[in-house]
Amino acid sequence: MERYIVKGGRPLEGEVEISGAKNAALPILAAAIMTDETVVIENLPDVKDINVLIDAISKLGATVVREGRHRVKISGKTINSVCADNEYIKKMRASYYLLGALLGKYKKAEVSMPGGCNLGTRAIDQHIKGFTLLGADVNIEYGKIIAQTKELKGNHVFFDTVSVGATINIMLAAALAKGMTILENVAKEPHIVDVANMLNSMGANIKGAGTDVIRIKGVEKLHGTEYSVIPDQIEAGTFMCAAAVTRGNILVKNVIPKHLEAISAKLYEIGCSVEEYDDAVRVIGNTKLSGTQIKTLPYPGFPTDMQPQMTVTLATAGGISTVIESIFDNRFKYVDELTLMGAKIKVEGNVAVVEGVEMLKGAQVNALDLRAGAALVLAGLGADGFTVVEDIHFIQRGYEDFPLKLTKLGATIAVVNDEKEIQKFKFKTA
Ligand code: EPU
Repeated sequence: MERYIVKGGRPLEGEVEISGAKNAALPILAAAIMTDETVVIENLPDVKDINVLIDAISKLGATVVREGRHRVKISGKTINSVCADNEYIKKMRASYYLLGALLGKYKKAEVSMPGGCNLGTRAIDQHIKGFTLLGADVNIEYGKIIAQTKELKGNHVFFDTVSVGATINIMLAAALAKGMTILENVAKEPHIVDVANMLNSMGANIKGAGTDVIRIKGVEKLHGTEYSVIPDQIEAGTFMCAAAVTRGNILVKNVIPKHLEAISAKLYEIGCSVEEYDDAVRVIGNTKLSGTQIKTLPYPGFPTDMQPQMTVTLATAGGISTVIESIFDNRFKYVDELTLMGAKIKVEGNVAVVEGVEMLKGAQVNALDLRAGAALVLAGLGADGFTVVEDIHFIQRGYEDFPLKLTKLGATIAVVNDEKEIQKFKFKTA
C-alpha cells in the first residue's frame, strides 16, 4: 500500500502552480455529454476522481479522446446507455452529476447512489426534490437512483438547505427543460459560476449564478464548446496553509485571488503576511502566529474543504482557537490522528477547541478523507521528525502531483510502499 513519508521542520519556499478545480471540472465533464457536438475541456486536474468520471462517461458510450494530461475531447453523440453504476463510481460523490446531465438530455438516468468522503450525513433529498419539481419520477432501487420523465418542465425550486451538488445538478437538468426554472437559496461557490459559464458557452441561458437566485431559461439543445476550468480554490488554500504551517514563503500561482479571500483574511488575521497579485497570492508564515475563530460556511464564507488544513495551522499558533464546522456533521475525525502528533484539540459536537502547541511531532497517521489527508501532510511538514501518512489514495482523489509540488518547494517527502522503503528514506534523509 502506498503511503507518504515526510521529514518535517523545514520552511517551504518557492512557487507553486495550481491545477484546475476538481469540483468545477467534475460537473463540467458531466455537462459535456449534454450535446451531440464535440466539447473540449482544458485545465482538467489529473486526479483520480476526474479520471474515474471520464472513464464512466466513456462507458456510457461517449467518444472520449484524452489530448494530453489536462485536456479532453468528448462527443456525446455515440452515447448508448443512461446507466452509470460501475464499482468506483459508487465511491464518488460527483457521480450524481451524471443524473442531471443524462436526465436533461435523454429524460432518463440511472446512477449508483453517490459515495464520497465520509464527512457525516450526506443527504441527496434536495437533488430529488429539484428533479421531481422539474417533472421527473425519481426512485431508489437496488442502490441506484433512477430518474425519468417524458418531458422536463421548468419550475420554481426553493432549496431547503444550501447545497453545491443540488444547485449544480438541477441547473444541469433545467438547462434542457421546457420553460423557465428559478432556483432559490442556492450555493454561490466559484464552481457554480464556472459550470453556468460552461453551459452558457454551449448555448444554455443561465443567469444569476453566483447570486442568491439562478434563472434558467430552458433551450431545445446545446452545442459544442471549448472551455477551460477555473483554478482550484482548495488546492491553492492548502498551499497557502503549507506556508503558514511551515513558517515558509510560498507564491501560489495561477489562482483567482477573489476566490481565496476568506482564507487570505484568516491567514492575515493570525499573523501571516499575505500579498495579492492579479493571478497569484504570496503567503509568508511568520514565526509567531496567533489563534482565531473559524466557522465554515457556504461561499463566500470560510470553506469547509479548508477546515482541516486551517485547524492544523492553528495547532501551532499561540493561544486558544475555536473551529466550528457548520456544513458537515462529522468532519473532525482526523483530530484523533493530529492528537497522535501532539496537537491539543478537544472536539465537542461540531466545535473544536485548539490549544496551540510549540511544535507537532512526527507520527504514523491515517488520511481519513481527501482534505484531512492533505492537512496531515501539512502537519507532518511542520512537525519535528518523520510522519507517515497512510491511505493516500484519498489524497490522490483530489490533489495533482501533491508530493512533487511540495518537493519543488523544498519539502522532504516520498511515496513509499513498505517498512523497508521507510527505513531507507529515514537513512537517506537523516
Ligand atoms: N445536503 C442535504 N441534502 C442534499 C444535499 C446536501 O441535506 O440533497 C447537506 C449535506 O448533507 C451537507 C450540506 O448540505 O451537510 C452541504 O452539502 P453539499 O451538497 O453542498 O455538498 P456536496 O455537493 O456533497 C461538494 C463538494 C465537497 C464540499 C461540499 C461543500 C464535490 C464533488 N464535492 O459536496 O467537496 O465539501 O460541496 O462545499 O463538489 C472535497 O472536495 O473534499 C469535498 C468533500
